[in-house]
Amino acid sequence: MAGLFSSATLEQIRAASDIVDVIGSYVPLKRAGANFVALCPFHKEKTPSFNVNPHRQIFHCFGCHKGGDVFEFVKEYENIDFPEAVRRLADRAKIPLEFEKNPGEQQSRHLKERLLQVHEQIAQRWQSALTNEACGQIARDYLARRGVAAEAVKLFRLGYAPELWDDTVNWAKSKGHELALVEQAGLILRKQDGDSYYDRFRGRLMFPICDEQGRVIGFSGRILTGDEKTAKYVNSPETPIFTKSKVFFGLDKSKRAVLEAGSAIVCEGQLDLIACFMADVQNVVAPQGTAFTADHARILKRYAEEVVLCFDSDEAGQNATVRALDHLLASGLAVRVAVVPAPHDPDSFIKASGGPAFKQLIDHAPGFFDYYLNRLCATNEVTTDKGRLGVLHGMAEAVHKTGNRVLIDKYAQKTALRLGVTPDAVRAEFKKLSRVKVPAPEAEEPPVEESASSPRPATHEYWVLKLLLSHDDLVVWAAAHLDPGWVQHSVVRQIVAQRLAAHANQSWSSLAAFLDQCEVPQMRSLITEATAESRPIPNPSQQLSDVALRLRNQFLDRQLAALMQRANQPECGDAERLDLLRQQQALRSLKRQPI
Ligand code: CTP
Ligand code: MN
Repeated sequence: MAGLFSSATLEQIRAASDIVDVIGSYVPLKRAGANFVALCPFHKEKTPSFNVNPHRQIFHCFGCHKGGDVFEFVKEYENIDFPEAVRRLADRAKIPLEFEKNPGEQQSRHLKERLLQVHEQIAQRWQSALTNEACGQIARDYLARRGVAAEAVKLFRLGYAPELWDDTVNWAKSKGHELALVEQAGLILRKQDGDSYYDRFRGRLMFPICDEQGRVIGFSGRILTGDEKTAKYVNSPETPIFTKSKVFFGLDKSKRAVLEAGSAIVCEGQLDLIACFMADVQNVVAPQGTAFTADHARILKRYAEEVVLCFDSDEAGQNATVRALDHLLASGLAVRVAVVPAPHDPDSFIKASGGPAFKQLIDHAPGFFDYYLNRLCATNEVTTDKGRLGVLHGMAEAVHKTGNRVLIDKYAQKTALRLGVTPDAVRAEFKKLSRVKVPAPEAEEPPVEESASSPRPATHEYWVLKLLLSHDDLVVWAAAHLDPGWVQHSVVRQIVAQRLAAHANQSWSSLAAFLDQCEVPQMRSLITEATAESRPIPNPSQQLSDVALRLRNQFLDRQLAALMQRANQPECGDAERLDLLRQQQALRSLKRQPI
């Protein structure tokens, strides 16, 4: 990952991005000795376990075990990838980026950058048409009728695509953009009879769709007239920078609020989201329609633990609510459902009843299964056997997806109450139905605790790490005397081996740079944990030779034990046994040697 940028550039950016300044611009840091501490931005806590070590330019949280250098922090905090974090810090430090030569990658980066540029420019063009030009009057009138505030128009960068076939085509020409590129951006289409082009978006109110960093990657355009013949919304097609199923409208603006609330409200459309935002409910995202995908669920899981679905009150919206459940359960998100009264959607409900009423609706939204039981009872004729069976089947299928016995039993009771039958009867039916329907396996697994997935290193192995990583001058001795193969803990072994290798091939520059080479999160976490504290270690060289000796002797003991075990096997012949004995003697005499 680090290979994208020249290491000189990375070092330059790192040198210009003091970790205390950068992290301090995101979270308030307090001095504690030589370090700084804060409430960890990556997990919920009441006392600070998040440490920033200015000397080593690293951070580490002793609560959630996240750690790394300044790039890693920006990457985690902003939920972006490594190259993007480098770009941000380069921007901040006003350092021009230099890339390693890689023609294929450079070309696709180049294309993406050019597509982003075209999107940004046309967004500006349409914004200006909406706000300043005479042709935008029709759109201004429309927005006024719908009660969209000027502030929202500005924040969401709404625009107007003029009612012409060649406005975008001519704009592109005047800007010197290749039409083939603008076609690839999805803004214009090729005419069937040749190589001339026409505009995709004509006479529409334009909503820019942004990626999580706020860069415009596509558009959705709404008609302004009640024309039944044309689609209400026209969207950008899939392009190298836009995949509709992986993007939420508005997330770039709402991600902080979602993180803070730990909860995301999901509504269908752009105008719903904008209405929520203006009513001061800002932890909202919109998948732009009812297709809520597994990718959408995964994206939300990065920001929140809970989702409140708030789709339109119509059939389509309510069916989509039920369909979203599988993906949400699979990603381990808790789900509640808020239903705006028919015939509303969140936008029209907020306009009709106000923001506080909407907040109430969200706050009091029931859990998914209570909502679903309500919906089943409303859509089935519960006074008939057929209707009751419909409710029973629906509930059984849904609750079994969780694989959670307590929850299944709770809803067996609730269903019984609603249908006026005994809980035991429902339990029996649920059980029968569960044999037919296999519960989703993903949902059954408890959330994985990263730290629990592999054992902690033994204390003395951990000490080797601490000593080697915080005392560069000890590495020379270690390279000559310590064999990484002595270390039992695989992650510690890898780190020690890489540290010694960096010394051998003279590639060591700093701990922070070393961290960027580590692809495995557990490696990074152990490294930052071992180096986060800034208290000096007394007599480090003596300590290292003591621990190294202990490591070597334990290694020899393990070998001795293996030899003895082999010698004790009944099939071991005399000659072999003698040889094994000699090997044991050699190991014992090795053990008596200093390192
Ligand atoms: N949508 C779409 N293509 C369509 C219809 C809808 O992409 N042909 C998406 C849009 O993102 C839209 C969302 O689905 O915002 C919800 O659709 P709908 O409820 O019909 O639109 P509203 O957002 O309610 O828009 P309006 O209030 O202007 O009718
Ligand atoms: Mn709607």
